[in-house]
Amino acid sequence: MGVHRLLLDGPPVTSLDAYIERGGGRAISKARELGVGGVLDEVTLSGLRGRGGAGFPVGLKWQAIAAGGDGVGERFVVANGAEGEPGTFKDRFLIRHNPYQLVEGLLLSAWVLGARRTFVALKRSFSREAALVASAVEEIQAAGWVPDIAVELVSGPDEYLFGEEKALLEVIEGEDPLPRMLPPYLYGLFTNNPQMGWSAGSSTGAVGQVASNPTLVNNVETLSAIPSIVRNGGEWYRSFGTAESPGTIVCTVSGDTRRHGVEEFELGTPVVEIIETVGGGMPHGRDVAFVLSGVSNPVLGPDDLEVGASYEAMSEIGSGLGTGGFIVFDDRTDPVELAAAVSRFLYVESCGQCPACKLGCEHLTSLLESPSGVAVDLGVVSGRLSTVADASRCYLPTQEQRVIQSLLPSMRRSRTGAERRDLLITKIVDLADDRFTLDARQRQKRPDWTYGS
Ligand SMILES: Cc1cc2nc3c(=O)[nH]c(=O)nc-3n(C[C@H](O)[C@H](O)[C@H](O)COP(=O)(O)O)c2cc1C
Ligand code: SF4
Repeated sequence: MGVHRLLLDGPPVTSLDAYIERGGGRAISKARELGVGGVLDEVTLSGLRGRGGAGFPVGLKWQAIAAGGDGVGERFVVANGAEGEPGTFKDRFLIRHNPYQLVEGLLLSAWVLGARRTFVALKRSFSREAALVASAVEEIQAAGWVPDIAVELVSGPDEYLFGEEKALLEVIEGEDPLPRMLPPYLYGLFTNNPQMGWSAGSSTGAVGQVASNPTLVNNVETLSAIPSIVRNGGEWYRSFGTAESPGTIVCTVSGDTRRHGVEEFELGTPVVEIIETVGGGMPHGRDVAFVLSGVSNPVLGPDDLEVGASYEAMSEIGSGLGTGGFIVFDDRTDPVELAAAVSRFLYVESCGQCPACKLGCEHLTSLLESPSGVAVDLGVVSGRLSTVADASRCYLPTQEQRVIQSLLPSMRRSRTGAERRDLLITKIVDLADDRFTLDARQRQKRPDWTYGS
């Protein structure tokens, strides 16, 4: 356990030749030897789980997309590089380190699934990463690695929901990031299949022939892990990490630690070790009070930090690993203010298609943002939390439930009138001199996604 660099090994890779020297391209030749079924077997055997937050087994997802033969239509693959989760910077860090392994992983997944068009979806503001991916694609295509598969770059909006996979497909089709009903493996890109309850969308299918176009959406880190798995085999990958969470994970540490940064660890490494290694511990006289793993999972307290950063260990203590983005809050932090900051972020970012989500998050935010010194009615908060995720199209209001619910015991213990810290929960913009800059514009963002002055 501890730091282990499979994806972040060596100095940054800045040319295709440098990537080839490190083994780049060998996975593609190996894939041709193994055949489609052989690659699918190795990926399944590796036990790799999606690094976009939910930890879904990658082999299973690929098998679901492959199922159904030709009758279900065309297949597409999308690399999700929206990276909107607060406290997460690992996808941009990975692309800056080695965009070639992402493109090779993307091409391999498309080859296995028979997809001819693939997409790398990044926020419009990630121009540095977009340029790196574009030149890696150009070099790999010029070298003719997999000539019949196209890679297109997609520039998406800054909204949190852009990263939600059903919203991501809407954006690729030229719409706003509003999650549709069905998951991408059932209702993929450019399908002409009528869908209940949401826009018909664009259609490229032949008239009279209904196709669901199963689409694979995998996170940037997930796809970046594919070349080394195909090259070295699933069994090799399983020799790292834990039985249920094999391999490594690229973690981000931010918040009140001495330093901020990104580093790759074997899965199962204790959270406290990750925070110490990357964050350099806490400033003198300060202790850790809360650690959020993004805004999707119940908060960790100081007594939880020995837990291994694995999907199963985090879930056993009632939390979750998410994207391995740990936001650390010190002992000056008022849990009510922290809950209010998370709730405001989710309320503003909620798209409003599901009334229980938008209205519930709004109500919870207003309850939690009570003026300093005025006690929050936690009974009302608790009641409102029980309905906020009713009839929801996506997981965002469940995140509200999970995070705010987990802070209730600390809120009950906290005294009113604690000093406010002006906490901001938002996405990371960049890393310089061991500190992240956060998106300060979030403070002006209104719940209709416009900005105040
Ligand atoms: C509100 C919301 C925002 C999300 N944002 C991202 C994101 O920025 N990047 C990402 O990879 N996944 C994000 N996800 C998860 C995706 O929907 C999807 O599960 C993931 O891209 C699948 O890839 P994986 O199987 O490799 O993890 C988000 C989910 C939700 C509910
Ligand atoms: S659950 Fe919330 S964020 Fe998700 S689609 Fe519905 S309103 Fe939008």
